[in-house]
Amino acid sequence: MQQLEDERPKKKVTAYLLYCVSTAVIGSLQFGYNTGVINAPEQKLRVFFQNLSSERYGEPFSPGTTTMVWSFAVAIFSVGGMIGSFSVGTMVTKFGRRKSMVIANVLAVLGGGLMGLSSLSRSFEMVIIGRFIIGVFCGLCTGLTPMYVGEISPTAVRGAFGTLHQLGVVIGILVAQIFGLESLLGSDDLWPWLLALTILPAVLQSIMLPFCPESPRYLLIVLNKEEEARKALERLRGCEDVSEDIQEMKEEGMKMAMEKKVTMLELFRSPNYRQPIIIAIILQLSQQLSGINAVFYYSTGIFKTAGVTQPIYATIGAGVVNTVFTVVSLFLVERAGRRTLHLIGLAGMAVSALLMTISLSLVANTPSLSHLAIAAVLGFVASFEMGPGPIPWFIVAELFSQGPRPAAMAVSGCSNWTANFLVGLVFPKLEETIGAYVFLIFMVLLILFFIFTYLRVPETKGRTFDEIEQGFAVKPASSPVPDAVFISQPEVQDPAPLSPTEK
Ligand code: GLC
Repeated sequence: MQQLEDERPKKKVTAYLLYCVSTAVIGSLQFGYNTGVINAPEQKLRVFFQNLSSERYGEPFSPGTTTMVWSFAVAIFSVGGMIGSFSVGTMVTKFGRRKSMVIANVLAVLGGGLMGLSSLSRSFEMVIIGRFIIGVFCGLCTGLTPMYVGEISPTAVRGAFGTLHQLGVVIGILVAQIFGLESLLGSDDLWPWLLALTILPAVLQSIMLPFCPESPRYLLIVLNKEEEARKALERLRGCEDVSEDIQEMKEEGMKMAMEKKVTMLELFRSPNYRQPIIIAIILQLSQQLSGINAVFYYSTGIFKTAGVTQPIYATIGAGVVNTVFTVVSLFLVERAGRRTLHLIGLAGMAVSALLMTISLSLVANTPSLSHLAIAAVLGFVASFEMGPGPIPWFIVAELFSQGPRPAAMAVSGCSNWTANFLVGLVFPKLEETIGAYVFLIFMVLLILFFIFTYLRVPETKGRTFDEIEQGFAVKPASSPVPDAVFISQPEVQDPAPLSPTEK
């Protein structure tokens, strides 16, 4: 037994596994790109809307109407995201993980095509419908990529690979920020290309996907195709002896067969799932209600307030810090663990939010505070990427076994998108009303999320899906302590410790 445990955390990272993970992560890149792409061409799009109005109705839209059409084009992306993320569960169960990614790409081509041709067709409706379709596509990506990556990764590197989703997202944002520069694709003539560029990665991923296997867990547990699952695993792990993985999946499958189908409602009703689904939702909320997108969507304005003369470059600087710290988290996540990194990230963000409030509200009278303001924004972004950025996306796939996983991904993903939508909607108005004090609201929320994480979130590092689920199992009714095991002991002992030197 001891020997078995010592052997379990073997890394088994093959070139083929890396190929498959990279293919899936193109979906993350797409989510990031489309999140970041809309900022730079704002003025161009506003002018486009006004010109169209003049052509069609003989007079330009009033500034109020232009803002309304613009805000609508921005917000509809998140609405699409809510729908897409909510559909993930049904889609992956019906079509499997791999085929779902191919189907999703059709949406990227359609949405990108509509936006790309909007100027030529003289239609702002095409921008709006295109953004909506791209939103649905991105909503699907935020469920499909973490699920596929989580399911094909060996336990010992599941967290590091899970973080690759966020790395894809942040690189996507950075690429969009750079391509959006006026001298590149952010110009009067080229902005439709900027919006249509999302088609290329979609085509690339569709070409790469047929060479990736379907998730072995889906093959074995859902389709009951053991031979195919075994073959897929042998290629992914690069060895013939995959009996341990197969055994683990079979055990999970057996348990799943004993349960009835897990619907979204069931997640809240069943005492075994209630605790992990609440944790999953709150972790997703902690990501969005931390205020990260308030900074990302409006960073240029924030840097302007901080006294930066060329705020667009500061925004790109924030994108670089964002990327660098995601890489830091990637290397730390299997050592420090998810829980610890999430806590460090939330704490760092809360302190940065306080510093941002102080410096931004005083900078007008004390220009020397400008440096502190910039440092606070960068600290906020860096702390986010240590934990709250990457962890919520992949930990959901870890907290649930095969049966409830699709429904759980859908519910938690949709919570994330809804919160994202709300922040985008409410932040500008709040900032207008209370100025930089708006970050105090995020600070209070961050402290609350810190307390919740400290008290309730278990460590999942180095555990198999089955072991994680066991931790949530409710003790029999006769038990004097009716709560799940994790509640009373968040600092659970790692059953198969993963010291960095062992790996
Ligand atoms: C996460 C969030 C996304 C945010 C990004 C910033 O992926 O889900 O909304 O824009 O991080 O890096």
